[in-house]
Amino acid sequence: MAHVSDLIAEDIELYLKTHENKSLLRFITCGSVDDGKSTLIGRLLYESKMLFEDQLTQLEFDSKKVGTQAGDLDFALLVDGLTAEREQGITIDVAYRFFSTDKRKFIVADTPGHEQYTRNMITGASTADVAIILIDARKGVLTQTRRHSYLVSLIGIRYVVLAINKLDMVGYSEAIYNQIDQDYRTFAKEVGLQNIVTIPMSALKGDNITELSVNTPWYRGETLMGYLENVQIEDTVEKSGVFRMPVQWVNRPNLDFRGYSGLVVRGSVKPGDAIRVLPSGRESRVARIVTQEGDLEKAISGQSITLTLTDEIDISRGDVLATTDSPPGVANQFEATVVWMTDEAMLPGRPYLMKIGTKTVTANVSTLKHKVNVNTLEHVAAAKLELNEIGVCNLSTDQLIAFDPYSEDRDTGGFILIDRLTNNTVGAGMLHSALRQPHDSSQWQDFHVNKQAHAALKGQKPFIVWFTGLSGSGKSTIAMLLERKLYSLGKHTYLLDGDTIRHGLNKDLGFTDADRIENVRRTAEVAKLLVDAGQIVLVSLISPFSAEREMARELVAQGEFFEVFVDAPIQAAEERDPKGLYKKARSGELKDFTGLDSPYEAPENSEVRIDTTAQTPEQAVEHIINYLLGIGALG
Ligand code: ADX
Repeated sequence: MAHVSDLIAEDIELYLKTHENKSLLRFITCGSVDDGKSTLIGRLLYESKMLFEDQLTQLEFDSKKVGTQAGDLDFALLVDGLTAEREQGITIDVAYRFFSTDKRKFIVADTPGHEQYTRNMITGASTADVAIILIDARKGVLTQTRRHSYLVSLIGIRYVVLAINKLDMVGYSEAIYNQIDQDYRTFAKEVGLQNIVTIPMSALKGDNITELSVNTPWYRGETLMGYLENVQIEDTVEKSGVFRMPVQWVNRPNLDFRGYSGLVVRGSVKPGDAIRVLPSGRESRVARIVTQEGDLEKAISGQSITLTLTDEIDISRGDVLATTDSPPGVANQFEATVVWMTDEAMLPGRPYLMKIGTKTVTANVSTLKHKVNVNTLEHVAAAKLELNEIGVCNLSTDQLIAFDPYSEDRDTGGFILIDRLTNNTVGAGMLHSALRQPHDSSQWQDFHVNKQAHAALKGQKPFIVWFTGLSGSGKSTIAMLLERKLYSLGKHTYLLDGDTIRHGLNKDLGFTDADRIENVRRTAEVAKLLVDAGQIVLVSLISPFSAEREMARELVAQGEFFEVFVDAPIQAAEERDPKGLYKKARSGELKDFTGLDSPYEAPENSEVRIDTTAQTPEQAVEHIINYLLGIGALG
């Protein structure tokens, strides 16, 4: 390695000791594709002498071969790394770089500016203390600059460097610098960014990076490196001292030891401290703080520890251990900001997995209040959130969770949303506040005449048979025949058919994705109520999306939901066309028609699959009855 510090040669022990105690600063760089981010990071690595000698040789070689700087060192090549990325001329994902100077250690997240920028920025920025916002002096404040700044403010980064780069290309003009500085500050004020330091620079030429440049004699401030080395990040978390530790796992190696392991995300804790467990609200005291190196007298945020308590109480993964003085809130309805990060739009009503701290629950957006135009900061009414859009919404979770407002704590107030089928992260969010106090569940669960009582009176087990399939596949025909058969067997049934329900309860709904989700949701809720009333419910809906069929399944107990896939090739359904709808859809009279211009996600694991090309409706009913008898659903 090129020499990092003279101390290494003189007193390696002392060097290592100071290195260990150096503070760590995390920052991100944001800019449009050509603003020179990679060059800047490469320059910082080079100036801090954190380049390996072989990297330098490689860099010289590469610069001559593919560089854009006519044989001079092209720092962007250092960062752009992969050959594939170089050839495309863009950086693909968040890249983290580590470097240090005599004063501080740094981790920099390089977040690319193409269309996945929100995902990358959220990933890179969620732990950052400082954001460097790069501006090309020739272009000034761009739409991208505004977007990045809005996200920086949303994520809660409170220190911003406005790096006015490529100043060499505008003759180191003070006037241009002043104009951009002024433009930016006007906007930044609106988004609530405060601690802004503007630095004129040329990352390529090295102006004002580590040494004040002779080219900008009018500039009275610090160099970029000087700022990064000296900026004091106010640690509100440490100051407030409010202890929070999400439980990562319950450590139970034998019957005599029960510890709760996790990362202290905020505040500090000592043996003897009173602790509250959330969401249950149970309390105890800390007995010991156990670590690999022995017991501790105190643990602070950033440390991974195992706590033991003085009482045996029920605690599981995902619970939050907190101080009793100022514990987090507990709720299942929230107002939140959501940033959408995937091509498939966020639809209200659709269930997603929500990961907050170490807990994963199911959540859906009950109301999308508005989205935010990040350029004008206007609130815009919206039915869904598309890629990179930001909205404010009401969110409900299927379980109570412990939380703090994001503005107070990024760890216990920030969350991600995960698609339940693909497991991809599709959104990120910040909780603002709880909407209302949750019900006291003991009040409404304590019915005397409950599901069992209703069912016993009818002498049957209640359940749902859910028919899904294309329009014209034969769902309703089979469902009607099945109902007749069950009736003849003395069963109390009820058929919920899409065509009927859409004339009454759901007559306000059309056929957009969002409306179909709502159609399925309401019908599933009604089916659930009927199951609670002891009824056998047959549902016949196209229900084109797997996610909502899963949601319907999860509304009732295990073994109370059977999915029947009425499988008909689209050609067969179109040929039958009992209501003439395919014809209308083909002629353009009908829009969003399932199977044509609206998707149908065929089930893969349905309990019963009816092959309508091989089975008659009567055979289909026999098939279903045999299945129900086989698993004992008919008593
Ligand atoms: S779902 O997709 O929301 O589950 P649902 O089963 O309630 O649909 O309603 C489907 C019925 O509505 C079809 O059988 C058909 O008669 C009628 N329909 C009218 N327009 C459409 C359309 N664009 N797509 C599908 N079905 C339609």
